[in-house]
Amino acid sequence: MLIALYPWIKAFHLISVIAWMAATFYLPRLYVYHCQVPIGSAESERFKIMERRLLKQIMTPAMIATWVFGLLLVLTPGVVLWSQGWWYVKLVSVLALSGFHGATSKWRKDFLNDRNRRPEKFYRIANEVPTILMIIVVIMVIVKPF
Ligand code: HEM
Repeated sequence: MLIALYPWIKAFHLISVIAWMAATFYLPRLYVYHCQVPIGSAESERFKIMERRLLKQIMTPAMIATWVFGLLLVLTPGVVLWSQGWWYVKLVSVLALSGFHGATSKWRKDFLNDRNRRPEKFYRIANEVPTILMIIVVIMVIVKPF
């Protein structure tokens, strides 16, 4: 059954990955802009709504879907050869991406409660982390270098 559905599961895995990554790249960017406006201003309140919607309506559901379809691929016979190293590098990278997701969720709560103390530069640098992890993951699954 999983073998017959393999192309479909992979298609939905990639659809979810695209949604998850798009939101993951954009949310820290919103935090950069949020740092630039005064606490209590109308802009700050608007950023809070944008951040909540992006995280709760797109990013978290997309991460869950990526994991569900990804784990179905893992369970499909013959897809992951456990002797190959690429899979383990991908696994560590997706765990790190999921940890980054958790961190962005915590940062959102800080903004929501008007207690963010991190500078704009922190979010600019944080923004690079998922990009690097995504590049590693894609090279691992496509090139499978080892
Ligand atoms: C969250 C947990 C994830 C799990 C458990 C998982 C697992 C898998 C598995 C088992 C495959 C099949 C590999 C194959 O057919 O050779 C696959 C395919 C793929 N994954 Fe993931 N994945 C996850 C997240 C991600 C993320 C975050 C990305 C991108 C940033 C990604 C990108 C891809 C791509 C591009 C393919 C297609 C490779 C091909 O053409 O064969 N995956 N994934």
